[in-house]
Amino acid sequence: MMNKLIELRNISRAFGRTQQATRVLESIDLTIDDGDKLAIVGPSGSGKSTLLSIIGLLDPHYQGDYFLRGRNIKALENKQLSQLRNNQIGWIFQNFNLISHLSALDNVAIPMRYNQNIKSKEYNERALHALDVVGLADKYALKPSELSGGQQQRVAIARALINEPSLILADEPTGNLDSHTSSKIIELLLNLPTSGATLVIVTHDANIAQQCSRRVKIHDGSLVHDHQ
Ligand SMILES: Nc1ncnc2c1ncn2[C@@H]1O[C@H](COP(=O)(O)OP(=O)(O)OP(=O)(O)O)[C@@H](O)[C@H]1O
Ligand SMILES: [Mg+2]
Repeated sequence: MMNKLIELRNISRAFGRTQQATRVLESIDLTIDDGDKLAIVGPSGSGKSTLLSIIGLLDPHYQGDYFLRGRNIKALENKQLSQLRNNQIGWIFQNFNLISHLSALDNVAIPMRYNQNIKSKEYNERALHALDVVGLADKYALKPSELSGGQQQRVAIARALINEPSLILADEPTGNLDSHTSSKIIELLLNLPTSGATLVIVTHDANIAQQCSRRVKIHDGSLVHDHQ
């Protein structure tokens, strides 16, 4: 039986003052199990990134309940929340979000600095291993500007994996890549060696959504579940 990683119950999110608030998400219910590869689709402005920010513990201003491994997020202290954000969740963005003056190796190493379980003398070896997993060990010394878009996204994936998170969140990870590079990146994401990792991908691309094990669509603020 699958273990429940995330349970969202009756989650709503509105922006702005209550009178004229824009309601973006309305009573969302969603369960994500360990190992799920879930695609979130929906038109631009429908709330995909908003939902991902809530799932990624970046946005506490929602109504409803969010259980992570059965624990209500609202019951957690700030310190526990920031440890979860850094150690249990890996983010991948459309524009890679690498630090331009750091080498690929040093970019990948960043999340380890906030992980008390990893000693600083292990940083380089672990970062190099993560770059090797994404096929970029030979580029470890290069800066983002010296890498192609696909290579930069591989560095970002290595960075997202470095703390061995249980949840990987990707917001349009191939939005800035050509279709060939895009399929390579998706293949990599869907076949990560940390096979138990749960993946949530926001995407406009029906092909990518089709390759995931589950799909949900945001429509007028509600979640439409695909038949599985
Ligand atoms: N911080 C904010 N303040 C006010 N409104 C916001 C904020 N963040 C998002 N919104 C609004 O919420 C709606 C959903 O935005 P969101 O970024 O989640 O959409 P999306 O589905 O990710 O779109 P896209 O596919 O274009 O990335 C939009 O109408 C947006 O203007
Ligand atoms: Mg978005």
